[in-house]
Amino acid sequence: MEPILIVHGGAGDITEARVPGKFTGVKKAVREGFKVLSDGGSVLDAVEKAVCSMELDDNFNAGYGSVLNIEGYIEMEASIMHGKDLKAGCCTLIKGIMHPISVARRVMEKTNHTFLGGENAMEFARRENFELLPPDSLITENAKRALEEFKENQKKGVDTTFARTELDKTEPNGTGTVGAVAIDREGNIAVATSTGGITGKVAGRIGDTPILGAGTYADNEIGGVSTTGHGETLMRFNAAQRILQKISCHNMSAQEATEAALKEMTARLVGTGGAITIDKKGQIGIYFTSKRMAWAYIKGNELHYGINAGEDFSENTTEK
Ligand code: GLY
Repeated sequence: MEPILIVHGGAGDITEARVPGKFTGVKKAVREGFKVLSDGGSVLDAVEKAVCSMELDDNFNAGYGSVLNIEGYIEMEASIMHGKDLKAGCCTLIKGIMHPISVARRVMEKTNHTFLGGENAMEFARRENFELLPPDSLITENAKRALEEFKENQKKGVDTTFARTELDKTEPNGTGTVGAVAIDREGNIAVATSTGGITGKVAGRIGDTPILGAGTYADNEIGGVSTTGHGETLMRFNAAQRILQKISCHNMSAQEATEAALKEMTARLVGTGGAITIDKKGQIGIYFTSKRMAWAYIKGNELHYGINAGEDFSENTTEK
């Protein structure tokens, strides 16, 4: 099996002005993650590295650059899963930590549990020697502007219940959850997803990203999926699991399953989203019902990337 790493940098109504930054960020992340795989690292190491790269990049809504809740502060969440033994780690309501994905991995590896949240997740991170940053240090001007615009739209009565499409048009950040899926030569699959959630969310709101089956799922016997988009919709639809179900029970290809599940989700629940998928045969699925979703993957010496529907640019990985 040829190793593959695929990443997404969030689905949404991403403005034209933000496209170049998204491209630079997803290409950097996929190169960094794939290097881990080609240097002999595990699929878990590779997806964690790719997500860490985007958590450091303010082009994405994860780690530094996370969006603000209605109270004006950041609450982040993440999950990671290994398809070999179905081990997973999830965390939510994380404040002032640059890499929530690494907290999630530590939950998986250092506790008897799968999901930690809130103050006790923070206490766990403290005990595990994660650097606790002043929470404001992760806040960007874009995130502040997005919250101001959210509040102005609320005053104007813009309905943000579902796809947030109207709202996202005015958001400098769009939605920008990040995720990665990898498969190695032995067919091991891992998935990682991390987010700041959605601008203007109520404090304590938890989205799809840390929820297994919604934001993240990996099973060597079927495939791996990371999703992005409107969390309440993805969670209620159990989006990642639905895609895998279409592969395992309906004999669909990764692309057919990703497309069919997301179309069905948006038709039934209105909210939009996107997903990246790798099945156990190493086939790739990429689809979104939002206006845009930044993605990139590396297979062999080829790096493919895109952001608009039907787009597929490619370059050789030996090129800079
Ligand atoms: N998918 C990110 C969120 O809604 O929280």
